[in-house]
Amino acid sequence: MEDQAPDGKKTLTNRQGHQITNNQSQRTVGPRGPATLENYHFLEKITHFDRERIPERVVHARGFVCYGEFEATGMIGDEPASKYTRAKLFQDKGKKTPLAIRFSTVIGGRDSSEVARDPRGFAVKFYTEDGNWDLVGNNLAIFFIRDAIKFPDVIHSLKPDPVTFRQEPNRIFDFMSQTPESMHMLTHLFSPRGVPASYRHMEGFGVNTYKMVNAAGDTVLVKYHFHPRQGIASLTAAEAEKVQGKDFGSASKDLFTAIERGDYPQWDMYVQIMEDHEHPELDWDPLDDTKIWPEKDFPLRHVGVMTLNRNVENFFDENEQIAMGTGVLVDGLDFSDDKMLVGRTFSYSDTQRYRVGTNYLQLPVNRAKNAKVATNYDGGQMSFGRDIAPGQNPHVNYEPSIHDGLQEAQREAPNNPPEIRGRLTRSVLERRNDYVQARGRYCTMMDWERDDLVLNMGTLLGQCERDVQERMVWHFLMVHDDYGTRVGEMLGITAADLKHLAPLPGQVLTDEDQRRLENLG
Ligand code: HEM
Repeated sequence: MEDQAPDGKKTLTNRQGHQITNNQSQRTVGPRGPATLENYHFLEKITHFDRERIPERVVHARGFVCYGEFEATGMIGDEPASKYTRAKLFQDKGKKTPLAIRFSTVIGGRDSSEVARDPRGFAVKFYTEDGNWDLVGNNLAIFFIRDAIKFPDVIHSLKPDPVTFRQEPNRIFDFMSQTPESMHMLTHLFSPRGVPASYRHMEGFGVNTYKMVNAAGDTVLVKYHFHPRQGIASLTAAEAEKVQGKDFGSASKDLFTAIERGDYPQWDMYVQIMEDHEHPELDWDPLDDTKIWPEKDFPLRHVGVMTLNRNVENFFDENEQIAMGTGVLVDGLDFSDDKMLVGRTFSYSDTQRYRVGTNYLQLPVNRAKNAKVATNYDGGQMSFGRDIAPGQNPHVNYEPSIHDGLQEAQREAPNNPPEIRGRLTRSVLERRNDYVQARGRYCTMMDWERDDLVLNMGTLLGQCERDVQERMVWHFLMVHDDYGTRVGEMLGITAADLKHLAPLPGQVLTDEDQRRLENLG
């Protein structure tokens, strides 16, 4: 198009390619008269503006995307990667796979503070040659609950009150006090790890249990970890308040400016591996995301390095419209029966069809850039093109067909997962052991971390009603005497005040829990 604008600037057009000669005034009858309806430029401009926001994510609304690559070692620890998985991105030493990553906070809205006490999202989209792999993780290794059916409840308790629209500690701890499996996550979240200093200085975890599948179809259970080469850094509540007083977007700014100045952050990626069965020898269940897998029993095995080296060009297109989910796996990686993971897998693409639209996978940031896409999907709101393969008969958008339509892949994909038998049921995992790992975590903290945990917990619980405070102190005493006693001291509650409290309905106590309960009485 010829450049007609003055001073060598580019000519403004609308999205039809029409040049705009007047962008200052609507068309009106006379200078002061009513506007006319055939104001095409004005109507396009204003109606587009009216729709500039899409619904924000129901969780993880505030976040920031950048790009990079994953470089494989070709190994899983000191064994060839192929022993455990046939996923191509892990196979060869030095193999690079481009990726996008979105860091986020969970509870606040799209413009909320980035130094809130909140888990941080750590969601990676690998653009592999076998299609996309999304690993949608957090910076804390565990979660509040172990069954997806409870997710709307835990999130409602953490989100603002439906009447006052304030985040209310009493609502949060009302829920948590009735949810003993949340004690481990709360112990992490209220420790200094609960407010990372920046996105560059935090770990990443897949949290849920996945599987790897090798060429023979044999499966193992797997957990994913990322360790920052920059080190881990956190803020105390007082430090976070200072940052927040000046800047709600400190973590995005830190990441963006580091990448702009060429200071590319890196994470080592590790996996933990377990044989694919129930592991009756453990006193917790490998499918329980409120538990870590102790590293002494299930060592970290290095698989590669992630480097982030490019910023987004447009926040909306690449951050608001990126869509990741736990269902997006490639050949050689699989789901486990982790009850959170199956629920998540439905939820992500469901919300994305609503939040972004039916054809969200056609957007540049979401499409499988490094794999061929050939589908029979057709139409839908905002469709921009069918996924037609070279040589495909465009009239055939169904399968099977004998007229040059798409066909199923002809390769064998062996998969020998264990056979499972059972009755349909609604039940809780048997091996709950809700306090043991929270106790382990409390014991391994340094003194200053424990001080910070108790201070943070006591301060927020100080805003709660007495019955909620009492039940929370009861749980902390079940975790560890010192933990419960110290939080109790901040609230004026002693073990003797809690004699009237029995275990929660349905709560299963281990022998150790029982012993602690008797001491408490
Ligand atoms: C985002 C659901 C548990 C990490 C989301 C979104 C939904 C959701 C609906 C918004 C997605 C979007 O609009 O694109 C669930 C459900 C869960 C669950 C139903 C439990 C059953 C978890 C857990 C983790 C996690 C355990 C940590 C491993 C994330 C992250 C995002 C997210 C990182 C942001 C993704 C992005 O940056 O676009 N979740 N979630 N979620 N969730 Fe979950």
